[in-house]
Amino acid sequence: MDVHVVDHPLAKARLSTMRDARTDNAAFRAALHELTVMLVYEATRDVPVKTERIHTPVARTEGYTLAEPPLLVPVLRAGLGMADQAHKLIPDARMGFVGLARDEETLKPTPYLESLPESLADRPVLVLDPMLATGGSMEYTIRLLTDRGADDVTAICALAAPEGLAHLEKTGLPVRVVTASIDERLNDSGFIVPGLGDAGDRQYGAR
Ligand code: PRP
Repeated sequence: MDVHVVDHPLAKARLSTMRDARTDNAAFRAALHELTVMLVYEATRDVPVKTERIHTPVARTEGYTLAEPPLLVPVLRAGLGMADQAHKLIPDARMGFVGLARDEETLKPTPYLESLPESLADRPVLVLDPMLATGGSMEYTIRLLTDRGADDVTAICALAAPEGLAHLEKTGLPVRVVTASIDERLNDSGFIVPGLGDAGDRQYGAR
């Protein structure tokens, strides 16, 4: 499984703001917005483009657009904080939604929302979720996508735990991961260490 760590100094700085327990909800959301721009920018570096002749005020030249705009899929709640920024970078993307809440005891995802196009054959998908912890939520989401024919899925996460990456790899699902950090480990409560706490709570307040 391809895992790309975006370790640009600006990405590290935004992630540090998100990690810092003193950062309030508004500043956390702002740092996540900015980090999302960097992650999506890197995640789409090699997507195919189509060309057309355009006229500048001075001359004719090649113009470029994305050959196949991806489907963006934020995983609620926390992924909502990445949706607008990703959409600004790729304005012609469609957007689907998946809502999952992880059970605090079992750490299994409980689905409460699924709004996706019926067929995803030949359509690249960018899944947006700040955290990949056990990987259960991401696995659940990707299975929804592959059930609809998707075979080109990129998970965009602010940070990931090695355990979650290993879990995803074992599933054999067609996914690559773009993240700003692979952290040390998961603790007994399923939180990423050092991590940033709960990305949903830190944006929107505790549930
Ligand atoms: C968090 C996070 C991921 C998931 C990661 O969401 O945003 O979706 O947990 O954990 P996993 O890899 O172990 O599945 P949570 O369920 O807390 O919901 P929220 O986004 O509404 O806060």
